[in-house]
Amino acid sequence: MSGARAKKIAVVAGDGIGPEVVKSALAVLDAAGADFEKVPLEVGLGRWKKTGQAMSDEDLETIKQCDCVLLGAITTPPDPNYRSVLLRIRKELDLYANIRPFHSFKLDFIIVRENTEGLYSGIEEVGEEESRTLRVITRRGSERIAAAACDLAAKRKKLTIVHKSNVLRSDRLFLKTCQKVAADRKVPAEDMLVDAVAYNLVINPGRFDVLVTSNLFGDILSDEAAGVIGSLGLCASANIGEGHALFEPIHGSAPDIAGKGIANPIGAIRSAAMMIEWLGEPETARRIEGAVEQTLLRGIATPDLGKSYKTADVTQAVIANLAKK
Ligand code: NAI
Ligand code: MG
Repeated sequence: MSGARAKKIAVVAGDGIGPEVVKSALAVLDAAGADFEKVPLEVGLGRWKKTGQAMSDEDLETIKQCDCVLLGAITTPPDPNYRSVLLRIRKELDLYANIRPFHSFKLDFIIVRENTEGLYSGIEEVGEEESRTLRVITRRGSERIAAAACDLAAKRKKLTIVHKSNVLRSDRLFLKTCQKVAADRKVPAEDMLVDAVAYNLVINPGRFDVLVTSNLFGDILSDEAAGVIGSLGLCASANIGEGHALFEPIHGSAPDIAGKGIANPIGAIRSAAMMIEWLGEPETARRIEGAVEQTLLRGIATPDLGKSYKTADVTQAVIANLAKK
């Protein structure tokens, strides 16, 4: 894999604070000596305003030809017929595993979210009086997300399967399938109803290690987990498929703070570290993660964490801490 050619990364900075935090992430990657070719793509609200389309088929082709994608955030265009760019990329590249690690000085757990089916199936009937969305759970989809979660849990402590099978019969298939995969792989597993997980994340988050769940539950629990950790701006994610991957902070485009230079870049920097690990440079990823921890330990942080440093200050501090290693 290594050495033959520089890896190609599609860079979708996007809208709002997306370009601000992606700039930080790229600066940190450069400083860490990560070697790759960047393919910038204008995708998102800005593009939609100019052309009426947030992403073209050609953009998608370009993305497919790159090794992976680094994405900032995309503002949803004000169009009732808009089809989410991110959902489209996740589906087209079959990025089924959404891995969301939550780290702080006291906490360390990972949410593994199924990323291609569930309530985000896209199968909908929309009417004036009645609208329906179909929740799709398949054995194959559940097996492969359970396998991805077990790969992580096998190196850690345990797996928690998150579901609502007491009410949603589709979740009985999800639960049973995940339990079987965990048993086959001898990974210690428990299961918990999603509402109880929501409660326990607040009351006793330290009890969790690796959680596996379906699409919508994972989406919601991730933002809750980010709140428990301290800020959405700290949290990173990977969207992984068989041959492709997309890395992005879990936050959106934060229009309320865009252009002020105060967005927390750590989620994007951590996403870049996950990307570089996936590309086969785990040592560089560990150096970046270490530099981030040093920066946070010294209290160099943006206003979302109660401090008054700017995006650029935090970025420079991470880069300076890289050099200290
Ligand atoms: P959001 O995640 O953009 O912001 C929620 C709150 O968290 C805001 O108060 C924001 O200021 C704060 N925040 C988020 N990231 C931060 C950071 N890095 N540093 C400091 N504070 C941060 O969610 P919101 O406001 O619901 O959505 C804004 C737009 O983003 C919408 O158009 C939404 O559709 C889109 N969105 C896009 C996502 C993506 O591209 N992956 C994910 C979530 C939302
Ligand atoms: Mg979300």
